[in-house]
Amino acid sequence: MSPALPPVLTIDGPTGSGKGTISRGVAERLGWHFLDSGALYRAVGLAASLEDLAFDDQDALARCALETVVRFEDRPNDDPLVFVNGAEAGAEIRTESAGAAASAIAAIPSVRAALVEKQRQFRQLPGLVADGRDMGTVIFPDAGVKVFLTASAEARAERRYKQLKQKGFEVTLATLLRDIVARDARDTGRAVAPLRPADDAVLIDTTGMSIDEVVNKVLALASARGT
Ligand code: DC
Repeated sequence: MSPALPPVLTIDGPTGSGKGTISRGVAERLGWHFLDSGALYRAVGLAASLEDLAFDDQDALARCALETVVRFEDRPNDDPLVFVNGAEAGAEIRTESAGAAASAIAAIPSVRAALVEKQRQFRQLPGLVADGRDMGTVIFPDAGVKVFLTASAEARAERRYKQLKQKGFEVTLATLLRDIVARDARDTGRAVAPLRPADDAVLIDTTGMSIDEVVNKVLALASARGT
């Protein structure tokens, strides 16, 4: 581990495990930067569909991942705003279909490779909380604290249902559960950087835990490690 680099706390886990809300809460409490790496994949998926790229055209998708300029604007108590090539992407970027598109392009090795440096650039002082699938395993393997969140697929579907309903989307619990199971299978089954806990990650099952309880648990862990 290089002592010169700013500290990183990684929070990985499957869709609906509460990663986004918890990572943001931890980042706010520590006063650190926040990387929503899923939004980066969602942004590339959006740029690719705006360019009408075929989802099996790996070279074009890798170029798109390299060239798409993504900027985040943090907001208190909400997902960051995402600007894709200068335009604010709107709430659509958080839909299940945008997540499924992101998951599909995220299985392409050259797309992932194109995003590695972009993600590492978020490592700035005083520190970074990085939320994703491979933050602790691939992007920041030297992170001082690594957390892997889990929760039952049913609990995760219910959380997504509440979140999306709050944002005004028409969704059903049964469809969300089916989508979550399919997305889990793709994210854990892919050959490159599959979703899995780093060997040195601390597993937290968030089923039945409140957001505050999980945030406090992660902060206690960070403090025990000297953060
Ligand atoms: O966290 P999210 O639901 O916004 O992520 C959308 C998809 O992007 C997810 O299903 C898989 C992919 N992803 C990834 O492969 N690696 C990451 N670090 C983050 C997201």
